[in-house]
Amino acid sequence: MASEAQIGANIQAADVFKLEVSDVQATVLRPRPRPYKGEYVILRIDEATQGREMLRRLIPHVAPADDWWVPSLPGWLGIAFTYQGLKALGLPQASLESFHKEFREGMAARAAVLNDVGDNDPSNWEYPFGTEDMHVALAIYSKDDKSLETVLERARQSHHQLPGISVVYRLKFSELPEGRNPFGFKDGLHNPHVEGSGVPVHAGYGTAIKPGEFIMGYPDELGETANSPEPAVLRRNGTFLAFRKFHTRVAAFRKYLSEQASSPEEEELLAAKMVGRWRSGAPLVLAPERDDPKLGADPNRNNVFSYDDDTRGLKCPFSSHIRRVNPRDALKNDLVATNLHYFLRRGTNYGPPLPAGVLEDDGAERGGVFLLIGAHLQRQFEFVQSQWVADGNFINHGTEQDPILGNNQADGVFTIPKHPLRRRLHGLPQFVTVRGGEYCFMPGLRALKWMAGLDAEHP
Ligand code: HEM
Repeated sequence: MASEAQIGANIQAADVFKLEVSDVQATVLRPRPRPYKGEYVILRIDEATQGREMLRRLIPHVAPADDWWVPSLPGWLGIAFTYQGLKALGLPQASLESFHKEFREGMAARAAVLNDVGDNDPSNWEYPFGTEDMHVALAIYSKDDKSLETVLERARQSHHQLPGISVVYRLKFSELPEGRNPFGFKDGLHNPHVEGSGVPVHAGYGTAIKPGEFIMGYPDELGETANSPEPAVLRRNGTFLAFRKFHTRVAAFRKYLSEQASSPEEEELLAAKMVGRWRSGAPLVLAPERDDPKLGADPNRNNVFSYDDDTRGLKCPFSSHIRRVNPRDALKNDLVATNLHYFLRRGTNYGPPLPAGVLEDDGAERGGVFLLIGAHLQRQFEFVQSQWVADGNFINHGTEQDPILGNNQADGVFTIPKHPLRRRLHGLPQFVTVRGGEYCFMPGLRALKWMAGLDAEHP
């Protein structure tokens, strides 16, 4: 394994401002394959030397963002570590202490900030979320079942005959028909444009955002370059992710819509008002009256809109999901600030779709797992979740929450601006429940080698 000094010299040689795409993990910059089959595997490390051996075996298969179909695998592997995982792997104390507080504390400890209360309270989360047993998260994506099995087998071999490593959680995921989420909406339509990433950009993705917002080692939108965690080799080309597993209450969503609407057309309109897009993906700002599936399916048009054309929210409500979580140019005096709250979204769906027309819950587990990726957990994921999802103050809506993500107890409110009188929906139940989550650090490839070589550095 390369020594810290060697790796340091390589970093010096690299142009510090040019994004080293070949050293960033594919999961950070690349959209997942389409269609996709995959699995999240969570591991616990009880023995540090075995943890590092596992890492050494896995590293050749971790996909870099420039060459993401590593020839050795018919799939794509990403690896991330929780704070407890870094500890279990034997990271030096000084390094552990250099991580930001929110990462060290973990997502469950941040429940009050994230409004993870009621059904979303960490005491209701699935094992191992919220415990100290979640150490390493593997995200495996493939095109089909056969390829997935091959990658999983490789992952299994990485801890073969290493009794100090155990699998504590597995979750299979796959694409739903037409790339929809369990509620029936097209997903994965918008992500910020990372300057220098070389990833194809569609019209309407907005201005390029400085790479330091998403990947450590480069200047961010404030012109600052992250100086933790230590040492530099560990942080360069690394990032953080908020892993969130949601259960979606699809029958409750359908039932609520049917109770509020007097026709199937009105049901569709109310659903679109809640999300800010029709189920096809067509944005309300461009298609305010009725769905436009061709627009929804066109990646070069379905993001080309501005809230400047809708300053009163008559087309797309201020409180709709997409207008809250990405206000684009709507926060007029705050354009730079909006750029400080972007993250990259990698979402996947699990569970069977609820058959069309069913309004009663069938008891099946279905939902989405989101990886919300950025260099600044606090001012990105935590800010958006606490200020823009769980509160309505920033749009002068008091305590009104995001209609899709809010953890209302049949007491939620959703405001739809309308002329001459606004419409206000009452009694919103909780449509989405948090089943668990954790903050993870996703290192660059050189950093992974440094971590795997810690025995040599710190015998
Ligand atoms: C089960 C949970 C969720 C559902 C059903 C959901 C649904 C959607 C849908 C349908 C879209 C529009 C299509 C797209 O661009 O992908 C969207 C966009 C988005 N969502 Fe979510 N979402 C969920 C969770 C979250 C969470 C937890 C966050 C962050 C706190 C988030 C942030 C975003 C962002 C930033 C966009 C892009 C908005 C834009 O610029 O158009 N979502 N979501």
